[in-house]
Amino acid sequence: MRIAVLGTGEVGSAIAGKLVALGHQVAMGSRTADNERASRWAAAAGPGATHATFAGVAETAELVFNCTSGIVSAEVLHAAGAQNLAGKVLVDVSNALDFSRGRPPTLSICNTTSVGEQLQEAFPDVRVVKALNTVNNQVMVDPGRLAGPHNLFICGNDASAKSEVVDLLESFGWPRGAVLDLGDITAARGLEMYVPLWLRLMGPVGGADFNIAVVRAG
Ligand SMILES: NC(=O)c1ccc[n+]([C@@H]2O[C@H](COP(=O)([O-])OP(=O)(O)OC[C@H]3O[C@@H](n4cnc5c(N)ncnc54)[C@H](OP(=O)(O)O)[C@@H]3O)[C@@H](O)[C@H]2O)c1
Repeated sequence: MRIAVLGTGEVGSAIAGKLVALGHQVAMGSRTADNERASRWAAAAGPGATHATFAGVAETAELVFNCTSGIVSAEVLHAAGAQNLAGKVLVDVSNALDFSRGRPPTLSICNTTSVGEQLQEAFPDVRVVKALNTVNNQVMVDPGRLAGPHNLFICGNDASAKSEVVDLLESFGWPRGAVLDLGDITAARGLEMYVPLWLRLMGPVGGADFNIAVVRAG
């Protein structure tokens, strides 16, 4: 599949690297065509890896990952171009973390909306699926690094888009049964509001290499 990864940070690099390893044609997007991190990533990732501007990578992609800060994600999608994204699945990995007042960060939006919803509202022709934002980037692409069963959550308005994303997540190593579908895109509120708890858990757990498991009765 031709996949665009918007974002040159550690999340974009981890996801793009995994996708190349799985045999996809992956283009990493950034604000500029000569972005140093994207150039270095593409050179190191080898065949199947390219980079270009947000618009350049979105134009030819069949599926798109948003791996940018939730605070700038709408701006990034505008730069990618509504016409280049129309009809495509957008996997939104972002969180609305605002570090402008130091640490711990606050959420720039929450409770009555979310980045996932705002992107879906601003780009109604895009099939937004919120996923992977509740785990560290290493766990995203290698869930087996954690012993025992643990869960991932997805949500979105388009059932076939979610089904495509579950297939992709399965190829990342997430057992199908571990991925819980929380319904429409408004569930992104809960997924994004979980992140302050996730950040706090890093203390007692001793790092970022963990996830939660949902345990049922019986
Ligand atoms: N770190 C994790 O393990 C983890 C886990 C779960 C979710 N997340 C979420 O994943 C997302 C990506 O995190 P990250 O740390 O990999 O990357 P990041 O530093 O949040 O974002 C990097 C990207 O943002 C772009 N960017 C920055 N400012 C911009 C602006 N004003 N306008 C347009 N684009 C701008 C950069 O463009 P250039 O390339 O042009 O510089 C770059 O591609 C975030 O929403 C984060 O909360 C992270």
